[in-house]
Amino acid sequence: MRVTLKVSRFDPAKDRQPYLQEFVVEVGEKQTVLDALLHAWEVDPTLSFRRSCRSAICGSCAVSINGRPALACQTLVGSAVAEGGVITLEPLPHFRRLKDLVVDLEPFFASLQAVLPWVVTREDHDGLMDPEVARKLEGPATCILCGVCDAAIEVAGEVKPAALVKGLRLALDPRDALGAARLQLMKVPPEILRLFVRELTQKCPKGIKIAFGEGES
Ligand code: SF4
Ligand code: FES
Repeated sequence: MRVTLKVSRFDPAKDRQPYLQEFVVEVGEKQTVLDALLHAWEVDPTLSFRRSCRSAICGSCAVSINGRPALACQTLVGSAVAEGGVITLEPLPHFRRLKDLVVDLEPFFASLQAVLPWVVTREDHDGLMDPEVARKLEGPATCILCGVCDAAIEVAGEVKPAALVKGLRLALDPRDALGAARLQLMKVPPEILRLFVRELTQKCPKGIKIAFGEGES
């Protein structure tokens, strides 16, 4: 099918304002938005964007697709085309743009540091995991640090959504010495965390569910 990509361009070295550049590409509806973007890149190799695995594993191709943050390599062209066969691609919101679709990830990774993103081993724990508990931790452990949640969900405070996912996953880990004290590191009230967890599953490309506040209304 013939698709028009409207790609947001901005080179701070020469542009005063971002603008949309159109590329008309031939692409199958079961191919991905990243495939379409790669066709555009063949036309104009100055177009900047990130990608690596093309398999929804590395998290690097996150962009705004028709206004919705998502992974370009996971989004099928057929599901993304809007009226008139157009797909609009912009950098992730809430991130500073470096060039075209490439954003500054430094604050994103700095935010992770705030929650001590590793297991602080309890000396009195044998390291064995109950299978039921392990199953609950599997979901948040599949986070690929793509930044889609940071772009898609507003959570007030300096600790951003992906760091909250990491912190909540560790708070639920019985091997971790900090445990519930991690909630203080996050500096987000439990009621806000519960709302965040509910919204996350809808917005996260991995559909991550976190067993926090389960059973409450
Ligand atoms: S929680 Fe989901 S959306 Fe957020 S960084 Fe991890 S994989 Fe991406
Ligand atoms: S290219 Fe790796 S997640 Fe899309």
